[in-house]
Amino acid sequence: MEVVRIRTDQAKAGMRVANDIYSSSDQLIITKGAVLDERMITRLRFYNVYGLLVYREDKAVKEESYIEMLRSTQEFKKFNHTYVGTVDQVEGSFSSFLKGETEFDVEELLKNTDNILREGRNGSHILEMLHGIRDYDDLTYMHSLNVSLICNVFGGWLKFPEEDIKQLTLAGLLHDIGKMLIPREILSKDGKLDDEEYEIVKTHSLKGYQAIKDAPIDVRVKHAVLMHHERCDGSGYPNGFVGDQIDPFAKIVAIADVYDAMTSNRRYRHAICPFGVVENFERDGFLKYDPGYLMTFMERIVISYLHNIVRLNDGREGEVVMVNRLALSRPVIRIGTGFVDLSKEHKLMIEKII
Ligand SMILES: [Fe+2]
Ligand SMILES: [Fe+2]
Repeated sequence: MEVVRIRTDQAKAGMRVANDIYSSSDQLIITKGAVLDERMITRLRFYNVYGLLVYREDKAVKEESYIEMLRSTQEFKKFNHTYVGTVDQVEGSFSSFLKGETEFDVEELLKNTDNILREGRNGSHILEMLHGIRDYDDLTYMHSLNVSLICNVFGGWLKFPEEDIKQLTLAGLLHDIGKMLIPREILSKDGKLDDEEYEIVKTHSLKGYQAIKDAPIDVRVKHAVLMHHERCDGSGYPNGFVGDQIDPFAKIVAIADVYDAMTSNRRYRHAICPFGVVENFERDGFLKYDPGYLMTFMERIVISYLHNIVRLNDGREGEVVMVNRLALSRPVIRIGTGFVDLSKEHKLMIEKII
């Protein structure tokens, strides 16, 4: 029988569930095959499950994508509202600081990210919500806010002390502040930049550093602004630093920065699915980025998608059931009653989380 995805608010007593349903902390809430009753539906709401698979017994059941389901929740609507308001505030604070109208106020700036962080249940949940926001226009301060939130979550995954996480969050927020000093017509140009324009964009890390170097800010934050485009193999800019020459904060911001850039929709390409990003990192990331930080980041990202339904490049859909630590972008997928081990099926890959 055909299986369809529905939102939790469309679930009705009598529908038969077509997948095992887990909470965000990986607890099994409802098993496959169960026939929904009001008590189960309440439980789904209690655990904030966005949606589920049911057997199509009723032709009127409309299918929803994962992102649509996420966006339909009250929780997401609230998150989005806080997020949009915060983006405006960040833009305001950055520009008045750069114009010399206000002093740099770290606590005030971090209030912005704190407001958003309070709307999420845990780190993975925050990242998931950020995916829901992806379709809007991509602006520097929005990217800055995302990187800041990712850095905050990342710092927690690395078990950093609270004060360090705070500074790291600030580093994410400020990392591209120098882009506000780059001509707008270059930043918002449609299509690819020419060499000269690209060289101008590349000055943003040094310009940003010069703008904040005398402000009362933690030196690691200043280094992150200056060095977030340096790469461990020396291929980065502005100084071509290698390994230990790069501040650890800059190495962390670099990973968060690239992750946000790849998972966002850009004018010239669509967002890459998180498994695709992890695959890119596995292919050439270990020379460029700090291997320890990168490994922690990739593991946590992949684990947060356990029990999600994904579509493979051959069109089949299945559930992520097991993560392979040696090939993080290639987990085991259950399709119907069979299992596909992507680490052994090199022609197959995850195309989309649905
Ligand atoms: Fe940058
Ligand atoms: Fe950036």
